[in-house]
Amino acid sequence: MQGFEATWAEACKVESSTMLIPADYVFLVGPIVFSGLYCKPKIIFQVEGTIIAPTNANVWGKGLLQWLDFIKLVGFTIQGNGIIDGRGSVWWQDTQYNDPLDDEEKLLVPFNNTLESPPMQIESSMGGKMPGIKPTAIRFYGSINPTVTGITIQNSPQCHLKFDNCNGVLVHDVTVSSPGDSPNTDGIHLQNSRDVLIYKSNLACGDDCISIQTGCSNVYVHNVDCGPGHGISIGGLGKDNTRACVSNITIRDVNMHNTMNGVRIKTWQGGSGSVQGVLFSNIQVSEVQFPIIIDQFYCDKRNCQNQTAAVALTGINYESIKGTYTVKPVHFACSDSLPCVDVSLTSVELQPVQDKYHLYDPFCWETYGELKTTTVPPIDCLQIGKPPNNRIQTAHDLC
Ligand SMILES: *[C@@H]1O[C@H](CO)[C@@H](O)[C@H](O)[C@H]1NC(C)=O
Ligand SMILES: *[C@@H]1O[C@H](CO)[C@@H](O)[C@H](O)[C@H]1NC(C)=O
Ligand SMILES: *[C@@H]1O[C@H](CO)[C@@H](O)[C@H](O)[C@H]1NC(C)=O
Repeated sequence: MQGFEATWAEACKVESSTMLIPADYVFLVGPIVFSGLYCKPKIIFQVEGTIIAPTNANVWGKGLLQWLDFIKLVGFTIQGNGIIDGRGSVWWQDTQYNDPLDDEEKLLVPFNNTLESPPMQIESSMGGKMPGIKPTAIRFYGSINPTVTGITIQNSPQCHLKFDNCNGVLVHDVTVSSPGDSPNTDGIHLQNSRDVLIYKSNLACGDDCISIQTGCSNVYVHNVDCGPGHGISIGGLGKDNTRACVSNITIRDVNMHNTMNGVRIKTWQGGSGSVQGVLFSNIQVSEVQFPIIIDQFYCDKRNCQNQTAAVALTGINYESIKGTYTVKPVHFACSDSLPCVDVSLTSVELQPVQDKYHLYDPFCWETYGELKTTTVPPIDCLQIGKPPNNRIQTAHDLC
């Protein structure tokens, strides 16, 4: 093999061709773009060996948002029993907080990838300090029917697997593995993507196991194991007064253990748009700090200015959320000007575990809906029915 670039160029010319990363080999691959712009459809990227990222700072220049970047592909599949290892530990030590999720600009820099015989150990031949911008390990952009299955993605410097502007995403039997204390290492991140199916996957990381951002609809997640990590999140939405639209999201049959949150929706004050039609069903939590959260006052600093505009939340359903918590079972903090509407709770049974934290009762603010069964503990703070001035939808929250 001449290198990934050359092999890709060949594979690209033939419909349904396979690019094989053979077993028992370790390939050191620098940041690379697999562009499908002039490619035939249905190419298979068969990963049986291991692909590792460079830990030499020089390779990353001023910082890149992606390591393995798959763009404009049609019917493309990554499959196999191999490992994709971002060797992120060299990036994590830098505690400087940076969240590149919102400055999603495309940085297509010239790349140079090398194939080498196995360097069996993580060398610490760092050519200096790692840049502040940390790459996502695998990113799909602007692709139709991308599939990722079988592989293990581990120790990403930042997010492990991201889909942006994709339709018909399929992820199953995938393992994500990085330490619980690795910063900003989301498992799977979705944005501006529709018709997404994720199942039978094992996600252990230092941030959200699955993060669903603006522009996502028809997302179905089931039979996922999450932990360590921060749980499964919709948002943060509406940052910097932006419009966010998320609809028809189902998350079911999920096992969460030692996560910070369980199922969470978070929005910034001042946003617009809506989150509509969410079902969290059969979520088993074990020693989770906050199993159920809606936070319409999300703020990543000490104080954020109060604003009346908000991303509207309607039709948020929780059924069979069971297990143990260590801080607060339910926290619903909705906007004063735009209360949460049609929030329903069915068979919620959450038992406290005295851990190292103080235990709190359920909290609700401006949250309206229905208790379809009794809950443990009782969630008396939910306001039954509709808000008094039954708000009419305005252009503000149309999507
Ligand atoms: C890639 O690196 C090799 C070896 O360092 C060098 O010879 C080659 O010119 C580089 N290619 C590009 C496109 O920079
Ligand atoms: C909602 O999403 C599911 C996939 O999760 C899809 O089957 C269904 O048709 C969607 N419903 C609507 C109304 O689009
Ligand atoms: C925002 O509103 C909350 C609740 O009404 C209040 O406690 C808080 O002090 C306000 N913050 C600012 C910065 O005005």
